[in-house]
Amino acid sequence: MFDDRVLSGMRPTGALHLGHYHGVLKNWVSLQHEHQCLFFVADWHALTTHYDTPEVIEENVWDMLVDWLAAGVDPALATLFIQSRVPEHAELHLLMSMITPLGWLERVPTYKDQQEKLVEKDLSTYGFLGYPLLQSADILIYRANLVPVGEDQVPHIEFTREIARRFNHVYGRDPGFEEKAEAAIKKLGAKRGKLYRELRTRYQEQGDDDALQSGHALLDEAASLSMGDRERLFGYLEGGGKMILSEPKALLTAASRMPGLDGQKMSKSYNNTISLREDAASVEQKVRTMPTDPARVRRTDPGDPDKCPVWQLHCVYTDEKTHDWVQQGCRSAGIGCIECKQPVIEGIQKELAPIRERAQVYLDDPSLVRNIISDGNDRARKLASETMRDVREAMGLDYS
Ligand code: TRP
Ligand code: SF4
Repeated sequence: MFDDRVLSGMRPTGALHLGHYHGVLKNWVSLQHEHQCLFFVADWHALTTHYDTPEVIEENVWDMLVDWLAAGVDPALATLFIQSRVPEHAELHLLMSMITPLGWLERVPTYKDQQEKLVEKDLSTYGFLGYPLLQSADILIYRANLVPVGEDQVPHIEFTREIARRFNHVYGRDPGFEEKAEAAIKKLGAKRGKLYRELRTRYQEQGDDDALQSGHALLDEAASLSMGDRERLFGYLEGGGKMILSEPKALLTAASRMPGLDGQKMSKSYNNTISLREDAASVEQKVRTMPTDPARVRRTDPGDPDKCPVWQLHCVYTDEKTHDWVQQGCRSAGIGCIECKQPVIEGIQKELAPIRERAQVYLDDPSLVRNIISDGNDRARKLASETMRDVREAMGLDYS
């Protein structure tokens, strides 16, 4: 399926850790072998919430790119770029804003959620309200059909689909199409015509697939229609006319909840992370000081792996045989916690060694990353320009 185009972005918010690796980057690395992939740094999205600390953005951008490359994202396979270096994203954002109802933006769940979560920031800004629309522009400008994201981002993909549909509906019709379609509806008869209109509204406004199916059935049964009118009404039902922007699908990454050092989900805000470039001594130190089942006060007290965050890391990093050894040894006090942690430490070191090594190459010669990005920016811009040509033309901004 090399026709698929995959696009995903990440906000540059700090050093990446094992949670990002297991949750996102490993997935990107495997996707790049299967599809055409575009991965970008969403620096403008970072500014929607971090507008008052621009100085951290630039540093984070380069650090994050080193992390991607170190994790195995391959610039020979995937296009890597920085959002703000492809200003066409902003142009599409602006043009789409003309037809974006305010209510659609206000209803995106992340809008209220984030405002409530980040109370220390004033997020009642125009930029923050437009966050999902900017994300739509990121996706639609490349006509990407697959967008790997986590669960929390699904409403943004849904929103993107609705914007694409609305855009095509408003700007994708040939002159005269509407009148001809309306004339064809009259030929359906009053009752059928009314039902057709209802189904069409339901599909176009709510994306209701059942309504689309029923509409198709209605047209199939309408014996009085000519072939031409039937085709016209099929088109009109789905939005009519040309598809300028194409609707993407979310590619949900299998919910991998990477446990942190304290058993909660690994996250910078819980201060329980191991970073992708953590040195070996620090990895060892962090795991050695991890909390264990509090019932094991003395070495001779038996424990329960289900109450221990170390066990959760075993589930990620060690094999079946080791799992049996932990279960047995912990419950019978046959092994000590330090002993138990050893295979986890080894597993993490084994995973991080090649990542650290690759990162070093880019840290030693930062021009490598600059060149990769400069190439990627050019490639992305070329693709973006193709879509923008169609969009400008459809919106009466061609001027050629
Ligand atoms: N909003 C996404 C996040 O917070 C980042 C992002 C911006 C993105 N633009 C995108 C993800 C386009 C996928 C596609 O994770
Ligand atoms: Fe946790 Fe292992 Fe200690 Fe059991 S033996 S409490 S699983 S660290």
